[in-house]
Amino acid sequence: ELPFAEPFRIKMVEEIYQSTREKREKWIEEKDYNLFNLESHKVFIDLLTDSGTGAMSDKQWSEMMTGDESYAGSQSFLKLKETINAITGFEFLLPTHQGRAAENVLFSALVKEGHVVPGNSHFDTTKGHIEFRKAHAIDCTIDEAFDSELIHPFKGNIDLQKLENVYKEYGKEQIPFTLITVTCNSSGGQPVSIENIRQVRELSNQYGIPVFFDGARFAENAYFIKEREEEFKHKTIKEIVLEMFSYGDGMTMSAKKDGLVNIGGFIALNNEELYKICGNFGIIYEGYLSYGGLAGRDLAALAQGLQESTEYSYLQSRIKQIEYLGNKLIEFGIPIQQPIGGHAIFVDAVKFLPNVTREEYPAQTLGIELYKEAGIRGVEIGTILADRDPETRENRYPKLELLRLAIPRRTYFQSHMDYIAVALKNIFDRRNEINSGYEISWESEILRHFTVKLKKK
Ligand code: F0G
Repeated sequence: ELPFAEPFRIKMVEEIYQSTREKREKWIEEKDYNLFNLESHKVFIDLLTDSGTGAMSDKQWSEMMTGDESYAGSQSFLKLKETINAITGFEFLLPTHQGRAAENVLFSALVKEGHVVPGNSHFDTTKGHIEFRKAHAIDCTIDEAFDSELIHPFKGNIDLQKLENVYKEYGKEQIPFTLITVTCNSSGGQPVSIENIRQVRELSNQYGIPVFFDGARFAENAYFIKEREEEFKHKTIKEIVLEMFSYGDGMTMSAKKDGLVNIGGFIALNNEELYKICGNFGIIYEGYLSYGGLAGRDLAALAQGLQESTEYSYLQSRIKQIEYLGNKLIEFGIPIQQPIGGHAIFVDAVKFLPNVTREEYPAQTLGIELYKEAGIRGVEIGTILADRDPETRENRYPKLELLRLAIPRRTYFQSHMDYIAVALKNIFDRRNEINSGYEISWESEILRHFTVKLKKK
């Protein structure tokens, strides 16, 4: 058997910049120890996010040239609509400028004060849009997801008992919908099985509650279904995607992930009435119905991107690259979330840095160490991201304190993965010398992680 290799080659390259530890120590201090504040040329390997950071294909770039910029009736919109209809099965399409904009438009139509929205570890902007409307997001993810070393094939799954408890307590009057996030970013890029999706649909039908998807990484989710769910072993990714979405009433999408574009998003729906209501909000917040804050060329590149991201060979190279990095880290004894997720490696910072207390933000501390060590930028998925409780204003300590190393799509080489692994190992080898973390010197009311200022403890 032949070894695995990427099903693409490089046509254009972009320089990235190396620097010295001395410089990086100065830069990060100047930027209040917030990795979001760093200019990109001060970062060598940027793993802040897999969102909008991937490489487009030659076919996508050619779509950029032929995109139709008509305000209304754009051919590029029609092409995207047909593509999304074929891939997801949803009939009505509202483009938006990115995923959180889709959340804003859909939730403006559906989420009211006092509502609750159950789901599997809502993403932070999703939770932000729910809480901003004085509603609550309730996490019903299975308990197994919160044990980072436990092997379970579908750690994104929803616990049906937890979900039914929410349904019984609040009823359909207070629950506008249940949200399934595929893959589940906040619990580690972990997939949700079709079996679980079917069960959620069935239970929701009994209680008269709609089901929506947050589809940011739907294609990666379908890959895991093919690999891990017996029934789907012989199905194509496109068949699996179609079945997955057949259990939903609609979806929001950040196309910056599995759309393989640098900007874009959409809402796709089955219900025409809801489409019309959302359309009104869309026009106010995003733009006319057929472009939603995007250029015609963006719509065209997205249509092509969705075709490519739902090809098995692409997904295999994507997931295998992350597996390669994860397996290296496991070899070095570094505690990471297992099984390895779809778009990122999640390092368990509490286990990695035993001498840094939760109050001193171990995941952020590890992120800063990794930047200083090697110019690699990850992101904290921990207490800073979890924000304060909107009522008590106390820090919320999430079950997991993770440093996420998100891998951009079709962007870095295997040698970059080796570099990342060795950098982390170097820190791991001296973990007992790292005895203190950071404290917050300034933070904003909501989504504080983007702008938080920190100082050394
Ligand atoms: N839903 C999920 C699951 C996400 O991961 C994101 C973004 C969004 C919604 C919002 O989409 O950024 O296009 O407005 N996640 C990025 C990340 C930012 O780094 O994980 P957006």
